Formats: sequence, structure tokens, C-alpha cells
Amino acid sequence: MRQSGQPAADGWPRKKALGSETPGAGPTAGELHAGAVAASPGKPSNFALEFDRIPHLNEPACRLQYRRIARRAIIITLYLLPDPSRSSTRPNCKEQESEMRMAGRTYGIGIIGAGHIGRAHVKTWRECPRAEVRAVVDVIPGRAPVVAHEFKIPSAYTDYAPVLERHDIDLVAVCTPPYAHYQPTVDALQAGKAVLCEKPFALQVGEAERMVAAARASGQHLAVASARFRYGAASCKAKEMIAAGALGRVYYGRASLFRQRGRPGIDLLKDATWFLSKGHAGGGALIDIGVYEIDLMLWLMGNPRVLSVSATTWQGIGDPRPDGMVQNVEDHATVMCQLEGGAAFALEVAWASHIQDQHVRLILGDRGGLQFGPLTFFGPPVAVGRDCLSRRVLGKGVGDGAGGGLPGIARAFITALDGGPAPMTPAEEALVVTRVIDAAYCSAATGRPVVL
Ligand SMILES: NC(=O)c1ccc[n+]([C@@H]2O[C@H](COP(=O)([O-])OP(=O)(O)OC[C@H]3O[C@@H](n4cnc5c(N)ncnc54)[C@H](O)[C@@H]3O)[C@@H](O)[C@H]2O)c1
Repeated sequence: MRQSGQPAADGWPRKKALGSETPGAGPTAGELHAGAVAASPGKPSNFALEFDRIPHLNEPACRLQYRRIARRAIIITLYLLPDPSRSSTRPNCKEQESEMRMAGRTYGIGIIGAGHIGRAHVKTWRECPRAEVRAVVDVIPGRAPVVAHEFKIPSAYTDYAPVLERHDIDLVAVCTPPYAHYQPTVDALQAGKAVLCEKPFALQVGEAERMVAAARASGQHLAVASARFRYGAASCKAKEMIAAGALGRVYYGRASLFRQRGRPGIDLLKDATWFLSKGHAGGGALIDIGVYEIDLMLWLMGNPRVLSVSATTWQGIGDPRPDGMVQNVEDHATVMCQLEGGAAFALEVAWASHIQDQHVRLILGDRGGLQFGPLTFFGPPVAVGRDCLSRRVLGKGVGDGAGGGLPGIARAFITALDGGPAPMTPAEEALVVTRVIDAAYCSAATGRPVVL
């Protein structure tokens, strides 16, 4: 059967686009477009050449009308041809990226720990393109099935071992309390799974070192969810500006984070009492929320070597839990880190305090400074003034945290699983953060700086 556009017996193409069925009626826009697309890139004027050879089109009126149509068709054809300045047959980056995505498979995710943050992971991974939560685990009987039912996850377990045996699970998110991060992480890596571990990475430096070693031995990605803040728009922009030298030599970073009443296990997340036990959580405000600031600041400052750590901690702000439950972690911590090259980083963090609006994050260099909330750049004063010139860095309506949080981490993990760059806070950097926190507690306990 002859297809439209193929030569007929008399050798002329019978294209509807040429108006052959209704003499005098020109082709429709759609038909013209089809004709243009059909033209071979090497011969864009086929259409124009052919119309001269069709007998009834040689009438003068028709000739004029069809010349116009042919000219338009040529223009459309040329428009559709590839840009000769980009004549390479290789697709550009965007095309490559989308091809990769289209060709990429969906990754199976297992969630270990179905508590507060486990649920947040489930929601995040459900929204993440090319990720599917296929299993959820919790040691408390009944907890994982409830989450599985709510989010339509096909399997629920009380033990993570069967999840690690499954070939359709590529990545596990370890969402257990800190005392239970180490074993599932190492077991999952040894089973060939990529691991996203919740923060804090580990309770002790020794555990963290073994987790790093397990990741290296397995060749799998191991990253920590303390990178939440690294993925935010302000952090990414600040990192870019610092790396480009916009601040000159960076010599100081400071983060202050004071909650008024935000003690987990008392003021919030009241059922998660493990937060209050040093043995289960590793510490209080410093390891729980200070960990984010240490992670972010060291990264922004270019991961300098930490030379020494001095710290103080304070416990006993606000009423204790009325039930007499173990509560032996700090509410407040102050930390000073000396960094190689003479720079320093200071951190104040509190779960409880009697002050407000003390959430500060700033980085100073000898040619400029950055302050978060909203991200603002400060440059040297103009000749006659003493105040620094300042300007907002992010566009209107773009919050500091845009693009960050767990969704930022999840997207980065998919890219990493596709063979792209490793997700942020890799295990090696999490080990450094663990060392700083460990040194800070040691300094606070002994009243002396700890040299790393
Ligand atoms: N809650 C938050 O807002 C929050 C935010 C960021 C990070 N985190 C971090 O997430 C982790 C979990 O915190 P959470 O608030 O979800 O605690 P949670 O107590 O609400 O949940 C932890 C769950 O892990 C389960 N679990 C313990 N050991 C397990 C094991 N071996 N295998 C399977 N399940 C096990 C527990 O039964 C519990 O259901 C902590 O490291 C915490 O620092 C929590």
C-alpha cells in the first residue's frame, strides 16, 4: 500500500499538503508543517522544486499562491533543521541528562526505623522521581505495618536482615536512634546497598571509622542526612561565592542556634525519650542540632583541618521530665574550633534558653562577608563611608532553604546511583564532624582544649 508522500505511478508525489483533492484550496497549516517536516534536511527545497512540475499548478494564480506557500514551507523546514553552529551529532548536556533519566531505572528504597524521621523519609522518597519505597522496618512490632499501610509500601518487617537480602532494594535509609545507626549501616553496606544514615553519624569516633571503612570496602555510597542544610539555595550559593573568592581569605565562621524550649523528649517528640540519654543519643543539643552547623560550616569554609576544639556544656535549663526518666545530656553547648591556616569557627547551640531570635550563621573573609537569613553579602565600604555595602544574594521569593532538606538529599542520591557525583555529606566528612563533636564533649568534661 502506498503511503502518503510516496511517489504515485506517474512519479509525482500525491501529498494532501499540495491541495490535490480540492483544487485551489491551499494546504492547511498542519499539512504545511507535515510537508516541511517530511522534507529531507539535505534538500530543504524539495517542496518548491516539485510544485513546478505539477500541471494544474502552472496556472498563474496558482503559481503565485503556491510559491508563497512553498517559500513558507522552506522557512519552516530551515527552522526545523539542526543549527549548523551546533552540528555535532552528540546531544547537548540537557538532552543527555534527560536521556539518562529516561533510560534510568527506578531504585528500590528500604527504610529502617519507622519513627518520626522514618515517616519523613517515606514521604520524601515517595515524591522523589525514580525512587520507590519497597520495604519498611521497625523493631517495635506493629509500627512498620502501620506505616506500610498508610503509604502503600508493599512490605513491612521487624528485622532488617531480609530487606538486605532483597535484590530489588538498592538503598537503605537508616532512621533509627543514634545508638542503632552503626550496625544496620555496616550490614547494609556489606550487603551491597547504598546507605543514607540519619544524623548524627555515630555515637563514637571508633564506630564512625568502621562505618567509613565498610563504605570503602563495599564501594557503595554512604552519606549522612546532616547534609540537609548543604542542599539549600543559600548554602549552595554561599559555597559557590566562597569558592570563587568573593570573600577573599575566609578567617571566621559563626553559628548560633538557640531554642527557647525545644528539648526532644520533653518539649517536643515526647515519646522519643532516648534523646535525653547520653548512652542512646551521644549527647544533647550539640550532637542533635549542633551537628548540622558543624557539618555546614566546615563544608562552606572548604573543609579545613580542625586543629583543636574547646567547649563548654550546660545542663539544667527548664523543668526536667516529671517521671524521673534518665536525662543526662546538655541543653546548651559553646564550641570553638581552631582551623588550619589561622581560621576559626564558633558555635553556640541550645535546646533551651531564655532568649529569642538568636539564629545566626555568618562567614567572614578579608574581602567580604556572608550572613544567612536571608543570605546577604557584605563588601568593603565605599571610599567615604564606614558601613559595609550589602546586598541580598538570592532572588526575590527564594528562601535560604529552597531545594534543600531531605528532598535535596534524595535527588542527589539518585544522581549518585546513576553514576553521578557522590551525595553530600560523604562518610569521610561525617567522620570529621564526629571527631569534632567527640573532642567538644571531651573538652567540656576536662575543661581543656582537645588537640586533634
Ligand atoms: N525527629 C526528628 O525531627 C529528626 C530530625 C532529623 C533527624 N532525626 C534523626 O533521626 C533518627 C531517628 O529519630 P526519630 O525522631 O525518628 O526517633 P524515633 O524514636 O521516633 O524513631 C526511631 C525508630 O527506630 C526504631 N528502631 C530502633 N532500633 C531499630 C533497629 N535496629 N531496626 C529497626 N528499627 C529500629 C524504633 O523502634 C523507632 O520506631 C535519629 O538519629 C535522629 O537524630 C530526627
